[in-house]
Amino acid sequence: MKTNVLKTLKIQDINAGAFAETALKSSGALLESVSPIDGEVLAKIQQATLADYKQVQQQAITAFKRLRLFPAPKRGEIVRHMGLKLREHKEALGALISLEMGKIHAEGMGEVQEMIDMADFAVGLSRQLHGLNIVSERPAHRIIEQWQPLGVVGIITAFNFPMAVWAWNAFLAFVCGNSMIWKPSQKTPLCALAVQQLLHEVLEPAGFAGAMGLVIGKDDEVGEAMIADTELPLISATGSCRMGKRVGEVVAKRFGRSLLELGGNNAVIVMDDARLDLALRAVVFGALGTSGQRCTSTRRLLLHEAIADNFIGKLLKSYEQVQIGDPLDNKTLMGPLIDRDAVAMMQQALGQIKQQGGEILYGGEVLSGPAYKSGCYVRPALVKARSDLPLMQQETFAPILYVTAVRDLETAVVIQNSVSQGLSSSLFTESLRDAEYFLSAGGSDCGIANINLGTSGAEIGGAFGGEKHTGGGRESGSDAWKNYMRRQTQTINASLELPLAQGIQFG
Ligand code: UN1
Repeated sequence: MKTNVLKTLKIQDINAGAFAETALKSSGALLESVSPIDGEVLAKIQQATLADYKQVQQQAITAFKRLRLFPAPKRGEIVRHMGLKLREHKEALGALISLEMGKIHAEGMGEVQEMIDMADFAVGLSRQLHGLNIVSERPAHRIIEQWQPLGVVGIITAFNFPMAVWAWNAFLAFVCGNSMIWKPSQKTPLCALAVQQLLHEVLEPAGFAGAMGLVIGKDDEVGEAMIADTELPLISATGSCRMGKRVGEVVAKRFGRSLLELGGNNAVIVMDDARLDLALRAVVFGALGTSGQRCTSTRRLLLHEAIADNFIGKLLKSYEQVQIGDPLDNKTLMGPLIDRDAVAMMQQALGQIKQQGGEILYGGEVLSGPAYKSGCYVRPALVKARSDLPLMQQETFAPILYVTAVRDLETAVVIQNSVSQGLSSSLFTESLRDAEYFLSAGGSDCGIANINLGTSGAEIGGAFGGEKHTGGGRESGSDAWKNYMRRQTQTINASLELPLAQGIQFG
């Protein structure tokens, strides 16, 4: 399986951690890509150094100078071919995500589909990068808003969506006329290499080989260089709040722009009139999908007290039935965590939860035995907790679901909004009034608010991102493309006079 996937994607012999017009012979320390499925090394990659970064950056700058003048619909045509390439290799790419990152096959395939959807969206957009036409107060004058490309965009991505989040950024950035440099998580270098390699087959014949660069390297070396680089007007970063704070500070200091998609601490509220069967399925997918390692994962469950015990009973039954194991086995519902560090962090969190008065209703154990030899498999944990449990304020990137009973919707919304993160939220109810309250300005304070569906699994068509410590950025759909462009207000005078605005008479 492994060999086949690496071979199909032509990455079995590639070990360069820097990629621009071609794979660069990088010279940094070796990085092992370890599969959380069995703990075995999939490949070793020679990481990029600062010198390698510089080369990638230079090629991206050169590519940008041509790309910005290449008509947007033609840039879209290149992305259309990228979408076709991804379709052709969907199966292998999906399997590689499972192999390197551990999410189950269905979700790996879903992630590739998310890239394909993004490509399609960007193609359409490439004919729609429109600005406003504004009337002027002066005769024979006209004001236009013209959107111009930015330059070289830096894209930093996390391990949990090792391909799709890059595609959100890259396809928009590209049709907008930018070149880019991608720094993927060091935990998922092969996913990045595979995508790079594949799309290069489209980019090179189109004459823009240097426009999509890749550097796989250390955060404190290439990561720091990238965020401080004044040649990169925009840094789009996905990851922890801690990482985002660093990126935001460094980029702001040099008057760059940052687009941040950081931690979530998402709650589902289930009211007493809700369709419990729907809520149950949404909560199980939200809490266990990607083994609780999505930024949209459901971490808190706020149950109306009238249905709380009943719902917890149903949830326990579902949790007991969850098949944990090899993510490439179709019966598996939950694969491994990304690595042993993540497992240790989850164990530490569970210890703290107990100290803080939380009651572990189910799970949390590390699984052992031949099928679990990587040491990355855990049983998902269900925790009964009061809403003031301190650890509940934090995002633990693991399948821990806190359950709290609430008196009414108002209380539930206050609890939901009481955390520092503000990504996704959801309410299950049959009441129009309750739904509208949740969606009103006094309701959910998150970037995403759903009625009768869970917190995770957003479509690409909407703007994706969140408020507060989630960073405020919006990616993928809607008008997120504007992040990758600069707005120029152009005023044209077609008269033979020079009237001044505000009626000023001068001289
Ligand atoms: C992430 O976890 O960083 O809405 C992105 C979702 C996916 C994207 C998650 N479409 O869960």
